[in-house]
Amino acid sequence: MYVMVTTSTTTTTTMTFSRALPLLLASVSLVSAQLVPLVDKRFSYPDGIPYQVDTDDLVRGRQTGYNRCNSTTEGQSSLCQTSFINSIDDFCLWAPIEPNSIVGNVEGEMVAWCTKKGHGARQIPAEALQGVQFMKTPDYVQVVGFVDQSKINLQADDTGGEMDPHGADLRGNPLGGLLYSNAYGTDNKTFTQVIEWHNFIGSGFFCLKACDPAGPNAAHFCEHVYDRIGCQYNAPNAAQNGTFESCKGENQDFPGVYVQNGVTQTYRQPPESLGPIATIPYTARIPASSDCAPFQSADIYVTATTSSAATSAATTSGTGTRTGTTSPTQTGNNQAGNGASSLTGSMTMVWGVLFVGLFGYTL
Ligand SMILES: *[C@@H]1O[C@H](CO)[C@@H](O)[C@H](O)[C@H]1NC(C)=O
Ligand SMILES: *[C@@H]1O[C@H](CO)[C@@H](O)[C@H](O)[C@H]1NC(C)=O
Ligand SMILES: *[C@@H]1O[C@H](CO)[C@@H](O)[C@H](O)[C@H]1NC(C)=O
Repeated sequence: MYVMVTTSTTTTTTMTFSRALPLLLASVSLVSAQLVPLVDKRFSYPDGIPYQVDTDDLVRGRQTGYNRCNSTTEGQSSLCQTSFINSIDDFCLWAPIEPNSIVGNVEGEMVAWCTKKGHGARQIPAEALQGVQFMKTPDYVQVVGFVDQSKINLQADDTGGEMDPHGADLRGNPLGGLLYSNAYGTDNKTFTQVIEWHNFIGSGFFCLKACDPAGPNAAHFCEHVYDRIGCQYNAPNAAQNGTFESCKGENQDFPGVYVQNGVTQTYRQPPESLGPIATIPYTARIPASSDCAPFQSADIYVTATTSSAATSAATTSGTGTRTGTTSPTQTGNNQAGNGASSLTGSMTMVWGVLFVGLFGYTL
């Protein structure tokens, strides 16, 4: 969730909680000069990682899970919030602790669900992944795909939203979430902390991009301000349902940046207060891929041995008061995939144009 942090110092004496919250968040980032933004924190893997990387107790409460993950935390009740993106057969997605959740309600508390054991996290059931494309480009690694999201604790029709290491209060979504990759080390046993990343999930589709921390444009390729326009605009790709492949590729354009009549333009996502996004003036370019190696799902994913419907481990860790910036009746403003199948009734008209623009994949 992206909220513009203003520098307003308005007093808030008689405001209701919901109206005061943005101001509260703003003052958090103003007043607490001591709050270190998540993107400014560095931890070497594995020994430099503390139990929790976020020890603040501010508007959104405490970090829900932990970052020190090992064989004792592994399993379907893990609250591990240290994630990985290494290869088509070894990556994690942020997903809820409790079954039947909605991204907008729990984005601050997501935990790592991984394709492989060994990360001290939960496991994505093999049958949840319906088509996956992994891609390495000069500036990032990315995994996108089709997912039965009900198997990783999301409501089947949730249109979803974005997780990234920013957030209005700079503590990340999820709070304290870390991401590592072996794509940027000298060998595949070296895991580098990924500073800029984004992960959209919803409407049966996901995309996770991890930008090379040594790259000059990591913050641009892994932009976090386009949380309402999904994978098609943040991670344009040609992934196909039912296909599993690992590719090399060209870089995408920076999210939001496009060329029209020879002029480079930057799209500005309108605030949610203006209602649904009716039109987007461009279609994001899908970059070329090459050297795609095909895989069979059964060869790269294994089914978790325990139920994927497992719930919270009820271990320690703060309760994490609700993610204040998000409407509890989230209605698809933070689209991850296409969202088409999840919208009904009178909303269909409103969202009609949106469907065209928000496909997170090519058919
Ligand atoms: C394993 O992880 C848990 C949870 O973070 C932690 O409490 C425990 O100390 C860790 N064990 C080892 C041996 O590091
Ligand atoms: C590193 O690469 C080797 C050879 O391809 C592979 O067997 C091994 O599983 C990889 N290790 C990791 C951590 O990805
Ligand atoms: C992908 O394919 C599966 C299996 O056919 C199907 O159930 C699912 O709805 C498809 N996903 C999307 C987003 O079309």
